[in-house]
Formats: sequence, structure tokens, C-alpha cells
Amino acid sequence: MSDRLNSYLKENSDRFLEELISFLKIPSISTDSNSKADVDRCAHWLKDHLFNIGITNVQLEETPGHPIIYAEYLIDASKPTILLYGHYDVQPPEPLDLWDSPPFEPTIRDGKIFARGATDDKGQLFTHIKALEAHLAVEGTLPVNVKILIEGEEEVGSPNLEPWIKDNKEKLSCDAVIISDSSMYAPGIPSIMYGLRGLAYFEIEVEGPSHDLHSGLYGGAVPNPINVLSSIISSFHDADGRIAIDGFYDTVRDLVESEREEWKNLPFRDSEFLAETGASELAGEPGFTTLERVWARPTLDCNGIIGGFTGEGAKTVLPSLAKAKFSCRLVPDQDPLEIEKLVIAHIEKVCPSSVKFKVGQHHGGKPVITDKTGIAVDAAKRALKKSWDAEPVFIRGGGSIPVVATFAEVLKTPTVLVGLGLNDDRLHSPNEKFDLENFYKGIQTSAYFWNEV
Ligand code: BES
Ligand code: MN
Ligand code: MN
Repeated sequence: MSDRLNSYLKENSDRFLEELISFLKIPSISTDSNSKADVDRCAHWLKDHLFNIGITNVQLEETPGHPIIYAEYLIDASKPTILLYGHYDVQPPEPLDLWDSPPFEPTIRDGKIFARGATDDKGQLFTHIKALEAHLAVEGTLPVNVKILIEGEEEVGSPNLEPWIKDNKEKLSCDAVIISDSSMYAPGIPSIMYGLRGLAYFEIEVEGPSHDLHSGLYGGAVPNPINVLSSIISSFHDADGRIAIDGFYDTVRDLVESEREEWKNLPFRDSEFLAETGASELAGEPGFTTLERVWARPTLDCNGIIGGFTGEGAKTVLPSLAKAKFSCRLVPDQDPLEIEKLVIAHIEKVCPSSVKFKVGQHHGGKPVITDKTGIAVDAAKRALKKSWDAEPVFIRGGGSIPVVATFAEVLKTPTVLVGLGLNDDRLHSPNEKFDLENFYKGIQTSAYFWNEV
């Protein structure tokens, strides 16, 4: 990379951080209908920002939900075209009292920036935007054709992105997609993620009596929906921790022996993983290591449960309703729609006729495995190696980015996932952070990437 490009990055580093702070200050919480105006403001901020760094062809595309930002900078049809994807929406910040500094007042402590969205995904996305800015400022152009797609609904399952991609297939055509919305294996170990789990998300409501009852007058003779819901939830797993839903594992692709060997060579300690969680012991499916459980095996976890009396003191009530949210992480080749059917069939089988139940689904996503070679992966490897001065490792991840499957299916394009976050970034939790070292090294990696590709 030219010295001028490197000095540009150095000279402007403080401003880059100031701008990231402005971006993080906007509470673009996609799940929260009261935040609609802020999500909109964030989309406009991004659009103006891209325009101001010299990407003059920027559109704000309205959808039935939150806007999509689409931009392009095309230089030469004979050169490769890379699509950059990211999301500007963030998770809700609650519980607020567990934050050491307010979620939308970005604060720097110990070389890290704390704010909702710091790592997921504003900070990671912004590294690419600043690298593109540097190329445009120093060279007056970009080394390849670049298309940019940034959505505001990733955290709610991207309901409007897939239709938009299908409608704009030709416009989006490209040689590869690059995304920084995941994590590195460990600090100082640059990583390329080649697998993500999918997701199927459910809500269940169990109704017993039509209204809350005195548990002395009726208890013992009337079905209790919380008791029933608990038994349904316990029937999801067997005593060993395997999922006990008929057919659930039928389409799970077995881990290949070489992959298991590779993962055993990664530096990993159960004790350190355990320490990150604060739990007292690990638990999971028998016969698999921790990395295998998180990267390559499916799960079913309750996300929340509510019902009856949870206030102060004691109230002897037999509740009318019990509700839970639960979700499955899926692995290739499980299909979220098939899994939904199996889960509902299981509930129909185990739920007693003494109660009524309703099951609803939220938007899910398909699991993916991406190529370990190709122009973008190879370029990302070289770029990571140069800026981190270490050999990149190939890893899989346990989280989900549903649009990656859409890119493969609709655009027929491979994706390279260059995660810049760290496992202790507390994404979706209080005190989310992004290490400034990763922010600046990320900008440098991206600047190299556009040249290398
Ligand atoms: N950026 C995350 C996904 C992620 C994080 C992948 C770390 C790999 C490593 C993304 O914003 C996210 O949170 N996705 C959701 C899924 C979505 C459908 C709500 C998830 O994984 O729960
Ligand atoms: Mn994300
Ligand atoms: Mn997220």
C-alpha cells in the first residue's frame, strides 16, 4: 500500500474515531417501534456520510420496514466487483442499569469504545467506509468496483432485505461479498469465518383456565399452564442434552475428520471459555468438544419465559397463561422451515389436551458454509496477514447472518466474513465494546483488501 495511503490513515485517525462516535450516538434500535425516527435518522446520516467521502451514487431505499442504503462506485467493468454488506441497526440496550456508561453516549476506557453497536455492527462496518474514504482521498478513485448494501433490519431477521435483493438481482451482481459483522478467533489472531449457524425462532403460549384462579380453591383439579409449559420445554432435550425432537438431526451434516483435527490445533481452553460466561460448569451434547458444539452442532434454547405472579411477596395464584420464546441454532443442511414443522409436530404430540397452545414463528435464517478460496478470500488473507503480522486462521462461528445464504442463492456469489470483533465484546449485552486496536487495524486491513482484490 502506498505510503500516502498509510499516512492518510494515521493523520486522520482521531477524526475517524470522532465520526464513529457520532454514528454510535444514534439509537437505531430496529426492534423498537418507538425508535423509528432514530433508525431513519441513522440511515440518512450514513447516506450523507457515504456521499461526503466521495461515493456520489448513494440511494436511500424505503422498505415496509427500515430503509436500505445502497451505493456504488464503479470504475471499470473489466475489474472485479465487490459488494460490501453491513447493518446500521442495533439491539435494544436493556437492562440499562447494568451499563457502566450510557449505551448511546460512546465512552472510551482502556483503549476500547463502549456503546451499543460498537462492535455489532457500526464499528466493524465503519472500518470499511473509512478505508474506502482513504482510497478516494489519496488516489481519487478505488482499485476495484465497489457496491455497498447496508440494512437497518439485521437484528430483526432482515424481513425486507431478501425481497429487495431478489428485485435488484442485476444491480447487485458482483464477484464476491465482504462482511465484517463477526469475530476474530482471539486477540491478535486474524480470522476468516467460513461457517455460520442458521436460526429458527418460536413463541409459544399455553392457556389453561380462562382467568387466574385461587390456587387453594382450584389447585390440584385444574391444569396449570406454567407446569405444562415447563414439561413441554423439558421434553425438548433428553437426559444427556441431545435434542429429543423426532427428525431434528436427520439433515445435520457430519463434521469431517480433517475439520475436527484443524479445530483441535486451535489454541482453546474450556476453562477460559467457561470464565467468559461466568457459569460454573459447561454443558452440552455428549461426544462433541466445546468448539464443535458451538460451531457445528444445532441447539434449542429458551430465550425467555413469563407467566403468573412474579411480583414482590407471595400470591397464591393458578395462572391462566404461560408464554415462552425459544430458538434453534441450525447447522448445514438443516432447513429452518423443516425444523419449524418438526418442532410444532413435537409440541402437538407432547402437549396434554387439558390446555390450549399457540405457536408462532419469527423470521429465521439458513445456516451457511462458505468457500475457503476465491478472489475475495485470498485477498482478505493477504490483507489480514499484512496488517496483523500473523497468519490468518479459518474458523466457524455460532451466530447467524441470514443474508449470507441469500447472497449465495440469489446472487450466486460467495461471501468472505472478515470478523473484527472479539468474543468478549458483549454484543447484544450491556457494556458492548470494540477495541480501538481492532478498529484501526480493521481500517488498515480493509484498505489493503481493496488493493489486494
Ligand atoms: N453480527 C451478529 C452475528 C454474529 C456475531 C455472527 C458474532 C458471528 C459472530 C448479528 O448481528 C446477529 O446478532 N445475528 C442474530 C440473528 C438475527 C436473525 C437476529 C443472531 O445471531 O442471533
Ligand atoms: Mn451484526
Ligand atoms: Mn447482532
